[in-house]
Amino acid sequence: MNIKRIKFASKLGLVAAAAGSAVGLGNIWRFPSQAADGGGALFIFLYIGCIAFFGIPLMMGEFIIGRSGRANASGSFKKLAPGTQWKWVGRLGILTAFLILGFYMVVCGWTMEYIVQSVSGQLMATESFGENFNNLLQDSTRQSVWMVLFTLLTAFFILAGVKKGIEQSAKILMPVLFLLLLILGFRSVTLSGSAEGLAFLFKPNMGAVKSTIFLDAIGQAFFSLSIGMGAMTTYGSYFRDDSNLRNTAFQVSLLDTLVAVLAGIIIFPAAFALTQTPETIVTTLVAGGPGLLFITIPQLFHHLPFSSLWATMFFVLLGIAALTSTISLMEVVTTFLHEELNMLRRNAVTFISMGVVVLGVTSSISPQFFDILDYTNAKIMLPLSGLFISLFIGWYLDKKITFAQLTNDGTLSVSVRFLKFYIFILRYIAPVAIVGIFVYGIFF
Ligand code: PFF
Repeated sequence: MNIKRIKFASKLGLVAAAAGSAVGLGNIWRFPSQAADGGGALFIFLYIGCIAFFGIPLMMGEFIIGRSGRANASGSFKKLAPGTQWKWVGRLGILTAFLILGFYMVVCGWTMEYIVQSVSGQLMATESFGENFNNLLQDSTRQSVWMVLFTLLTAFFILAGVKKGIEQSAKILMPVLFLLLLILGFRSVTLSGSAEGLAFLFKPNMGAVKSTIFLDAIGQAFFSLSIGMGAMTTYGSYFRDDSNLRNTAFQVSLLDTLVAVLAGIIIFPAAFALTQTPETIVTTLVAGGPGLLFITIPQLFHHLPFSSLWATMFFVLLGIAALTSTISLMEVVTTFLHEELNMLRRNAVTFISMGVVVLGVTSSISPQFFDILDYTNAKIMLPLSGLFISLFIGWYLDKKITFAQLTNDGTLSVSVRFLKFYIFILRYIAPVAIVGIFVYGIFF
């Protein structure tokens, strides 16, 4: 079937859409809790290493596969490796995208709840932010309703089309979110007592090191960059022929990392400065996991004038960042069903939304199910996907295709040294390291 593919209209739009996919709850909700769990600085150091050595090359890899295949995540592999089983790598990613939606949407629902609470002033009027968040966790009906609404919102944007829906919204709102985060970061580090929080974030604490720290870091890096679930392959397939894949991957990864670190700079100093006893800080940080964002940030707003206004702005922007991520996740599965199974996009979106709602309701009712989905995706499926993508580009794909994609058929000047180094990383370093990290994290 020859489906005419839509392309992103402008260069900025393309970076914004890919960054919109990457920057999401993973940066602001998941990263700080992972960093707290991993003991702060060392985790962050490993995380940045994973972004540089595996994340950026693999993101470029997904762009290459998507733009040269010009199809969905499975179809692109089929075009580049006809008659082989490589298409299953794409399909693994598509399945992962679907499963991620099953718990990610629940957190998106929490964000909706917090938007409403902020607007109504209820959030800032609460006695205890911890209790407020726990009440929400106990109420699976409320969580489910918000989750369903967020799923519908995502479905609406998908049906509005790639260019209009994704590009326009991402282009305007991402910079606004970034600005707000900068303001909050500034407020947080200027609180008295914030220094300890900064130290926690930037001074390595060897006592907290666990054997899973590498796996946690790589899983978080892939999750945050939207790698290993076909998202960047699918977006790559919409890129224009003159888009610079290498620079886009660098820019998106840099932005994504900045936002994550900024979220840490907001949350840790605030958590240390605003929690009364040191013991509770550490337990909140470590056990706080998902709650960190929804407890600490409102605490921080409490210390600002016009607190409800700030809270509203923050949660609305967070919701939008989450939306540009859920759009990309749903787009992966939609394009697959549309192109490979000949489903109408509308039907595909309906079908996926129903599946996501089933997973989402289960995740709202059962925190264990939520954790299993989160764990299997971040710690097993994403590293595996990353491994296979690096093997595909490093060993299978004709180097001429890789070079042609990275240089736009020779029109961009990319040094031969860079190209060789790129292949070297995907051929040897990434596969060996990912297997090592995986085995060490799972079995030791
Ligand atoms: N990268 C997104 C985040 O950090 O929130 C989550 C995500 C989006 C994961 C899209 C995967 C994906 F395909």
